[in-house]
Amino acid sequence: MKLIIAACVLMSFVFASPPEEFDKEKYLIGEKVFDNKCSSCHVKSMDIQVLMSNFIEHDNKVLNLLAPTGNEISFRLKSQIGSKDDIEFQIDEVTDFVKDYLINPDKAKTVCLEGVVKHFDTMPSMKGQVTEEEMEDVTFFLYFLEGWNGINEYYEKDEF
Ligand code: HEC
Repeated sequence: MKLIIAACVLMSFVFASPPEEFDKEKYLIGEKVFDNKCSSCHVKSMDIQVLMSNFIEHDNKVLNLLAPTGNEISFRLKSQIGSKDDIEFQIDEVTDFVKDYLINPDKAKTVCLEGVVKHFDTMPSMKGQVTEEEMEDVTFFLYFLEGWNGINEYYEKDEF
């Protein structure tokens, strides 16, 4: 019995830990891009229960957010685009989506929940304000922001 419990604990640790595709240096560079160019509108991470209550029950009047948070976007990108079974490929697909969205934003393409995105106007285009490399790095950061233990202090066990 003890062995089974130990095995389960080990398994959950393995699953929650960053996969081999995670590159800490690239993540930190991406986080800087986020802090400099995205955080004026996007809060990095907030508790998901608090967010859902704010958007669904209180019409965004509690938090008065200007945009979906980084961790919401992170979760939605990974659940709406491609498959987590092939992380390397999914990062490419997510990067294509974010690059396109940053230049040609259009809520018709949204990966966010309707109940969240309806509170916002379409994001302004960042054309000319971010380089290709910055877009790639910031997407890498967003991809790994939510969902794996040991990457940052924002890890949320509850799925949403
Ligand atoms: C001037 C405010 C502002 C800035 C700066 C900003 N955003 Fe946004 N962003 C928004 C708003 C508002 C939304 C929600 C409406 C929408 O989806 O178009 C949004 C939505 C998004 C989405 C989700 C798109 C969707 O609906 O599926 C992504 C991804 C995103 N932003 C990435 C970024 C990144 C990366 C940066 C920095 C390089 C950034 N944003 C900078 C306001 C901003």
